[in-house]
Amino acid sequence: MREQLANIRAQALSAVESAGTAAELDALRVQYLGKKGELTAVLKQMGKLSPEERPVMGQLANDVRAALEEALSRQGSILEARALEQRLRDEAVDVTVPGKPVKLGRRHPMYIALDEIKDIFIGMGFTVLDGPEIELAELNFDRLNAGEGHPSRDWSDTFYFDEDSRVMLRSQTSPMQVRAMDTMELPIRIIAPGRVYRKDEVDATHSPMFHQVEGMVIDKNVTMADLKGTLNTVVEKLYGKGTKTRFRPHHFPFTEPSCEMDVQCHKCGGVGCPTCKGEGWIELLGAGMIHPKVLQMSGIDPEVYSGWAFGMGLERTAMRRFKIADLRLIFENDVRFLEQF
Ligand code: PHE
Repeated sequence: MREQLANIRAQALSAVESAGTAAELDALRVQYLGKKGELTAVLKQMGKLSPEERPVMGQLANDVRAALEEALSRQGSILEARALEQRLRDEAVDVTVPGKPVKLGRRHPMYIALDEIKDIFIGMGFTVLDGPEIELAELNFDRLNAGEGHPSRDWSDTFYFDEDSRVMLRSQTSPMQVRAMDTMELPIRIIAPGRVYRKDEVDATHSPMFHQVEGMVIDKNVTMADLKGTLNTVVEKLYGKGTKTRFRPHHFPFTEPSCEMDVQCHKCGGVGCPTCKGEGWIELLGAGMIHPKVLQMSGIDPEVYSGWAFGMGLERTAMRRFKIADLRLIFENDVRFLEQF
């Protein structure tokens, strides 16, 4: 039995030392120390021994077991360390490999201009509103004092969704005036940028979709002087100090009096050139004092409150700001053009 134990010890220890995986170690543990294992089998023969031999063999068997367990756990740790090292090697990241360059996009020139406009108005205490491009004709026309029969409601100018001309693509951002009056507390100071749609053929200055920025102020004692002062300030901030403007009388159904504001041509300084079509001035926006009927339709007493509004073409503003000659460049998204801003 002494020999048997010595053999088991030698075999088992060498097997454990050469085990390459945790699974192999487990199998060896079962093979030698398990219930039906080889060491256990030897121990079962203890009964046959003499009482003097029994404790000696018992001690010997315990030593073998202890040595085996120690070897198993040592080899286990070695394998674990080896596996960790392998994983670290496999998952290593070579930080010296050059990266793939990411192509950075840039802001569209029109949105650069819009952000500048927003900044200017936010600085003056205005709130920026966003509204639907699919609009009710009631808000785009009726509530703006352009009732049935008004020429701008014509099917040849407007994209309608239904036979009875109730739902349409908004032709101006002015319905946002109505939406603001219907939902906001007085006094109101808002701008509302967004897309508008008209049945225009595409050319250097026209597109069936373009952008406007609506602006509106309603408070007590608001006058045309406030309108002019505010818009002049905006123009100087956009185009530089000393930029000249001029206000011409005009007509809009929802303002009274109404005007258009021109900016002196940046190219010729007012003398007249191809950019301003010989006029010396470039039209920038329509504006006016909000018609008392429009205030009334929104439940605002025109005896107590007054207001002004304007609607500015955003493409036109960006074209002037960046000296872009053709409106189509703004929408074609040719990277060679966009990269310049
Ligand atoms: N909505 C008008 C247009 O599209 C512009 C405008 C807005 C005029 C507000 C006066 C007041 O031409």
